[in-house]
Amino acid sequence: METRRTFLKKSTMAAAAVSVPAAPGCVTISTIRAKVPMNTGKTENAAVLWYSQTGYTERDGRLLAKTLEKHGTTVTASDLRDFDKSRIGDYDLIVMGSPVFYYDTPSYVKDWIRSLPDLKGTPVASYVTFGGPEGNQHNAACSILEGLSEKQGVPIALNAFRNMSSYPLAWSEENVNDNVWRARHLPDRETYERVRKYAGYIINQVKQGRSDEFTQKLTWREFATFFGLIWWNKQLISNHSIIEDQCIGCGTCVEKCPVDAIDLDHYTVDTTSCVLCFGCINNCPARAVNMEYNGKKVIGYKQFMKLRHVEVMEPDELKT
Ligand SMILES: Cc1cc2nc3c(=O)[nH]c(=O)nc-3n(C[C@H](O)[C@H](O)[C@H](O)COP(=O)(O)O)c2cc1C
Repeated sequence: METRRTFLKKSTMAAAAVSVPAAPGCVTISTIRAKVPMNTGKTENAAVLWYSQTGYTERDGRLLAKTLEKHGTTVTASDLRDFDKSRIGDYDLIVMGSPVFYYDTPSYVKDWIRSLPDLKGTPVASYVTFGGPEGNQHNAACSILEGLSEKQGVPIALNAFRNMSSYPLAWSEENVNDNVWRARHLPDRETYERVRKYAGYIINQVKQGRSDEFTQKLTWREFATFFGLIWWNKQLISNHSIIEDQCIGCGTCVEKCPVDAIDLDHYTVDTTSCVLCFGCINNCPARAVNMEYNGKKVIGYKQFMKLRHVEVMEPDELKT
């Protein structure tokens, strides 16, 4: 859903694109800062919430939660779709995570943030997970904080953690794309150590009552978003449907689809409302989601990981 603010922001970016021939990194799109004072400085109860499609953002969220618990905080760790928004006022601290999709935070995550009640000065921190070396991650993490500060949350920190990309158009059966492959070992011990340190930093910020300012700079990747990257990609997608003979009826695709585009009774996908997040094909355990990109069959994340024998490393705290 396009708000007036988003529209104005995008128009400013477009105007800047036309009028500023200088490197885009010089142009500030927005500065995110606290609009209200921080409410308590307590760290007794925290909510760590995430949107996650293939598990990377969830894994980092759970590790953040475990580390916050070690600091004496009681934590509710949850997928944002399972979280009761009316309880958000119960928390002294909110941490929110999202993957970077198409150089930005997905629109449905932003919509979810917009639907929150007033946060009344609660400190807020964000993190993103991303797959590409230049995934516009800083701006994506900023956009989560921007949404939360619109809701009177007080921004205290942001971070970004790289891992293997879950973007299936980056690979094919015959050819393993370099960019994807280079990050196959991520997340590793170092990534998880950064996640743990981030939890400590967040706690410190709250205890010291310290908010921070975050600046979104114009990047070339913002233009890709502005000029409808998802729409252009969709033009090359065909035969997106559920293969009846292969479907085991588990409902994973329906659960993963953020826009309810899948009708399992008729094995169809509403390609108009589809936002090309690949949640269906990336997670289907039965390879029952059909999709072609530029005439070639798309292989989902799970299948790709299996084919290439890639296993994601778990942090010690989450091994049971
Ligand atoms: C639809 C889609 C778009 C993506 N776009 C980007 C991107 O623009 N930049 C990037 O660095 N990674 C991108 N990725 C990779 C994901 O951000 C990355 O793999 C992320 O950690 C997945 O998190 P999750 O497992 O919690 O869903 C994309 C992945 C998908 C599925």
